Amino acid sequence: MPPLSNLAARDVETLVHPYINLATFRETGPLIIERGQGVYVFDTEGKQYIEGMAGLWCTALGYGNEELVEAAAAQMRKLSFAHLFTGRSHDPAIELAEKLKEIAPVPISKVFFCNSGSEANDTQIKLVWYLNNARGRPHKKKIISRMKAYHGVTIAAASLTGLPANHRDFDVPLPGFLHTGCPHHYRFAEAGESEEDFATRLAAELDALIVKEGPDTVAAFIAEPVMGAGGVIVPPRTYFEKILPVCAKHDLFVISDEVICGFGRLGTTFGCEKLGFKPHSLSIAKAMSSAYLPIAAVMIPETWYQALLVESRKIGVFGHGFTYGGHPVSAAVALKAIEIYQRDQVIEKAAKRAPLFQARLKALNAHPLVGEARGVGLIGGVELVADKKSKRPFLPQVGVGARVVGFAEEEGLIVRAVMGDVLTLSPPLVISAVEIEELFDRLTRALDKALDWVTRGHLTQS
Ligand SMILES: Cc1ncc(COP(=O)(O)O)c(C=O)c1O
Repeated sequence: MPPLSNLAARDVETLVHPYINLATFRETGPLIIERGQGVYVFDTEGKQYIEGMAGLWCTALGYGNEELVEAAAAQMRKLSFAHLFTGRSHDPAIELAEKLKEIAPVPISKVFFCNSGSEANDTQIKLVWYLNNARGRPHKKKIISRMKAYHGVTIAAASLTGLPANHRDFDVPLPGFLHTGCPHHYRFAEAGESEEDFATRLAAELDALIVKEGPDTVAAFIAEPVMGAGGVIVPPRTYFEKILPVCAKHDLFVISDEVICGFGRLGTTFGCEKLGFKPHSLSIAKAMSSAYLPIAAVMIPETWYQALLVESRKIGVFGHGFTYGGHPVSAAVALKAIEIYQRDQVIEKAAKRAPLFQARLKALNAHPLVGEARGVGLIGGVELVADKKSKRPFLPQVGVGARVVGFAEEEGLIVRAVMGDVLTLSPPLVISAVEIEELFDRLTRALDKALDWVTRGHLTQS
């Protein structure tokens, strides 16, 4: 292992990084990114990378967008901070809330601003509990999410998340958070089971779970339209059209976690539009501001708002809010980002490039290391396996996913490995056709290097 640069050594001695083996990280050190332009980022050595993950599924408009920079600077000069507590307000929050209501995929009455996807989902849970109290249903409180879901890391959001590493030794999930089956046909369908039959079985499983728990105790179902951090899992055909009636039958609220899928990732403004379902409420974040600044929101239907009014009258105050929720600079940037999405038809154009992206992605299915390459719109997952026929994964300690990430970096491409050996792709929506080709050329070279590494006997394929 080459010695760490001065900056890298300072990093190792000062930061706790999310989502890394902190022990091995002391040897490897960080990849330090210094600047970005378009779909490219550059490290401290000046090496160029295609940002194949749009940061963390978020920099949809790419880097160096001067209009967003200007929107932030202008708002900072005018009013660098104002809050929304105790009846205070400001223009950017009002305008952004109006814009979000206008583009919402279902009727939305109000918008509640926060700063992260986790805060949005925590807020969703608090609202559901609060409004079921308002409605005289104090026992209807359990929340159902799905195995492999990712909804964030604050205590309630982590409880919704269905990934073992987010639970283990953190003493979550909290009681009252349940996880139903993961809609991943490749991994969890029975032999010969069609996508439709698998969806039917998952809906029956959800129904049985609610009945077992007692429908009077279950309040809501939350889902990402396409699961992201769980490994880019596209649900089987007819999944949501079968799941939603089960929720309706037992009077559950349906929450769409649009933190990744919102603002064009799947080729429609919201992911639920692509997947064909209508939630009661939505959580949004990330691409709302193209990640130039943090901002997130909960989109609240009128029926919920009415219940919040009941509680406010009873208690005297709606006791929830974040200091920086709806920060004027973040709101101004989000407004500008949405203006750009609409004015430049960013989402429609991304949808037009999606077939090329998906064709190159699915072509990876022919690669000896790839068990399943899957995706929709401009999101993709590449699941690596030790044996294609049996779908046998590599042993986790082999770290094949991390290897490919390293080889991809050598090739000038940033991708991520989640769940061990699923590579994820989610480039800026503004990526051009030529850049898509280049992204997959670089990824293919990385996969070939990994195959060579595997077959040259650095390890056995199991
Ligand atoms: C679907 C989804 N929900 C929630 C979150 C949590 O967002 P944050 O990291 O901003 O708290 C994420 C983060 O990746 C996400 O992908």
